[in-house]
Amino acid sequence: MNITAIYGSPRAGGNTDSLMRAFLSGVRSAGGKARELYLRNFRVYPCTECGGCDQTGCCVLQDDMEVLYSYFQESDVLVLAAPVFFYGFGAMTKAMIDRCQCFWVRKYRLKQDMHTERPSGSGRGILLSVGGSGGSRTFEGVLLSARYFFDALDMSFAHHLTYGSVDEAGAILRHPTACAEAESLGRKVASELQPKA
Ligand SMILES: Cc1cc2nc3c(=O)[nH]c(=O)nc-3n(C[C@H](O)[C@H](O)[C@H](O)COP(=O)(O)O)c2cc1C
Repeated sequence: MNITAIYGSPRAGGNTDSLMRAFLSGVRSAGGKARELYLRNFRVYPCTECGGCDQTGCCVLQDDMEVLYSYFQESDVLVLAAPVFFYGFGAMTKAMIDRCQCFWVRKYRLKQDMHTERPSGSGRGILLSVGGSGGSRTFEGVLLSARYFFDALDMSFAHHLTYGSVDEAGAILRHPTACAEAESLGRKVASELQPKA
């Protein structure tokens, strides 16, 4: 079982951090474990659209994405917890996603094998997100971005949990169902990954 959990908010101890912790508590309760990565501790330059990956499917920039690329390739499940900023992902998360253009090139332009350690198409992506607004369209942007991010990584967009009207740090902990739902999803995902007897 190989689960990678990406904390995508710049705010330590914020709402998506809490949602991720609830999710991972569910993973552990089902006997699973996950690699936890705080994007705010990584140095990720924005994509420069240099075309350096066009022929090879490999990004030419050198920074902490090199570590993230290898984790993405070996993960069975990738969980991204990130808030809505201006109806999309915030800059840190968006930079990470844009830097996965090299995977898009491999899949769609070079039609290469993804060189993943999982069987093709078996990877699963999960998004946990919150926004301060209670509007009905709050998550449209991040849901679309997440769909195409996971697709570039050759993963299905398996699950998402989104909560609006969640603004100040800690507000998610007062939500009536959010943390319980995240924990339950973590348990379900980890149980599905356990080898069948
Ligand atoms: C720069 C910035 C932009 C934001 N833009 C939006 C937005 O477009 N829609 C929304 O619903 N909330 C927006 N918010 C509110 C955050 O989504 C909200 O505070 C969320 O709870 C932050 O999650 P975190 O604690 O995990 O960082 C924004 C907050 C910041 C700091």
